Amino acid sequence: MSELPAGTAGFVDHIGIAVEDLDEALALYRDLMGLELERIEEVPSEQVKVAMLKLDRTGAVGHVELLAPMSDDCNIAKFIARKGPGLHHIAFAAEDAEAVMQRCRDAGLRLLDETPRTGAGGKQIAFLHPKSTAGVLMEICMDPGH
Ligand code: CO
Repeated sequence: MSELPAGTAGFVDHIGIAVEDLDEALALYRDLMGLELERIEEVPSEQVKVAMLKLDRTGAVGHVELLAPMSDDCNIAKFIARKGPGLHHIAFAAEDAEAVMQRCRDAGLRLLDETPRTGAGGKQIAFLHPKSTAGVLMEICMDPGH
């Protein structure tokens, strides 16, 4: 295998999907499609309720992150109002989020977060502006255990 760019972990941590209603989304992703629900969590700072479903039975491959708004003026509510529910972001796992962010900055990419902040699962996260990434909202996601 080739050497990873400094700070990256070499895998997708999760795929974020904006949903209007968590129970309706679970009826689809869990009950019809068969993904196992790992946990449901509220992130008050983001005003968002999150359901994490495993992409495989072990959860080692990654997760689907269902994001339901808890208020009308949170980011997910605004996204749904603008574009409707659906694919929201892709989160790339990092061993060193700051190192990845700095390389993106040096490459001229626009960051939505200047420093990592705490997201679902206590992970340290930062977003890249989709205008810098050909239309895909990207999250850099670091397990603080690293
Ligand atoms: Co995410």
